[in-house]
Amino acid sequence: MPAREMSVAAIVPAAGSGQRLGSGGPKALHVLGGQSLLRRSAQMLAELVDVLVVAVPADHEAEVRHDLAGLPCPVLVVVGGATRQHSVAAGLAALDTGTEFVLVHDAARPLMPPAVAVAVLAALRDGLAAVIPVIPIADTLKTLGSDGQVAAAVDRSRLVAVQTPQGFRYNVLAHAHRAGLDPLTDDAGLVEAIGVPVHTVPGDPVGFKITTPYDVLIAEALLAARS
Ligand code: CTP
Ligand code: MG
Repeated sequence: MPAREMSVAAIVPAAGSGQRLGSGGPKALHVLGGQSLLRRSAQMLAELVDVLVVAVPADHEAEVRHDLAGLPCPVLVVVGGATRQHSVAAGLAALDTGTEFVLVHDAARPLMPPAVAVAVLAALRDGLAAVIPVIPIADTLKTLGSDGQVAAAVDRSRLVAVQTPQGFRYNVLAHAHRAGLDPLTDDAGLVEAIGVPVHTVPGDPVGFKITTPYDVLIAEALLAARS
């Protein structure tokens, strides 16, 4: 497809196995209120982007194509990798090199309000190269020593929790991934590592990541309260 038709893309890493949820299949395909986590995440993005690339576990391509049928933008399904970053890299490799902006959004955040993605995109269109949604941390934080005892209190006033979608100029994200993957950081961390400043916009607690069965209960309660 010509680049001009694909200037905003989204990559959805959905290739994890969901060990902590333990639902017996890929977490992205876990159904929440009648729709998979992946479909909910993809649907939110499909309204805002020109093309969506979904990285899925091997042998689940056909199931995902079926799950994502009828979205209002083209969907490319690729096989993900052993880590989230490898899955994002697989998605990146499927994009047209003329793409202008890329949103990277976890399938595991199915309730993220579109307004957050809109804010990330608006900041990119205003000229920023890397933008991430963040929320304040409510809990008191401490670091532990190797003996498991409290080593220090942490000043949380300058700490935030990072969400997705994270947005990047395509060239910046591609450069950061070429420079090397580091399993201890996210895409924004890779971008920081090549010296590009990462900006923030307010995230939304409703866009929390579903990790454990407890999170599924919270998400179901939120959906029930909406209907
Ligand atoms: N992910 C991916 N490829 C991987 C690992 C993770 O695309 N090799 C995706 C997941 O599908 C999810 C997002 O990255 O949408 C965030 O990862 P996480 O919440 O850790 O999901 P899982 O890795 O599936 O869960 P767990 O760590 O409990 O196994
Ligand atoms: Mg994981």
